Amino acid sequence: MDLTEIIQERKSIRAFKSDPVPREKVEEVLGLAIRAPSAINLQPWELTVVMNEERQRLSRRLLKAYREKRIQCSPGNVKPMPRMFTARGVASFEEMKPYLDEIGSDFNQYINEGSCNFYGAPVAVIMCLDNSFSQARLVDIGICLGYLVLAAHRLGLWTCPIGLIAAYKDEVKDMLNIPEDKDVVIGVALGYPDWEHPINRFTSPRDTLDKVVRWIE
Ligand SMILES: Cc1cc2nc3c(=O)[nH]c(=O)nc-3n(C[C@H](O)[C@H](O)[C@H](O)COP(=O)(O)O)c2cc1C
Repeated sequence: MDLTEIIQERKSIRAFKSDPVPREKVEEVLGLAIRAPSAINLQPWELTVVMNEERQRLSRRLLKAYREKRIQCSPGNVKPMPRMFTARGVASFEEMKPYLDEIGSDFNQYINEGSCNFYGAPVAVIMCLDNSFSQARLVDIGICLGYLVLAAHRLGLWTCPIGLIAAYKDEVKDMLNIPEDKDVVIGVALGYPDWEHPINRFTSPRDTLDKVVRWIE
């Protein structure tokens, strides 16, 4: 599989099989993910891998926190977004919803509770950043995430980034003994897709290049 195919084929999976992933395979993925570039080669990412029973234990805590606090998946904007972005989010949700309607699942419940449950994946990778860094270093975490999802795909594993867990960072840190001075940035669900589940037929749309690129020549 060449890189173009990997990029074109990868997508977020929202229903995983419970089949375990061998630790060596996860190590291979993470070994490639940390080849990502970073400013001054600081490699500021700190990863916690939570597998199998422990992943389920983490999700039970996250689900409890979600039911108490009701913080949902959201764009996390700090002021109203330009209409273009809102439209993309709405379009994506509208295109995803019919797949959940097929099985009578409520959209919000499926996405929020599903995110807390890493959509049933046997492996969750929690990506942290030391709080001595400025927000600029989130770029490095982002690129490591990008490498991770592509490397996983190359090795036959599928993923879903889970930003929602950052809203429940206190619970995550408590459960996983993550030190006080580390910020929980994002989680990633990692495993094998349940291709029988309708949600996995969904592929998210993209705007065309002319909408996102300005050329100055
Ligand atoms: C930073 C970030 C946070 C995300 N958080 C979540 C999440 O909490 N729950 C979820 O279902 N998907 C989450 N996603 C997946 C996005 O919804 C998905 O990447 C986007 O819709 C594009 O679809 P694709 O990954 O299938 O190409 C997240 C993705 C990123 C990059």
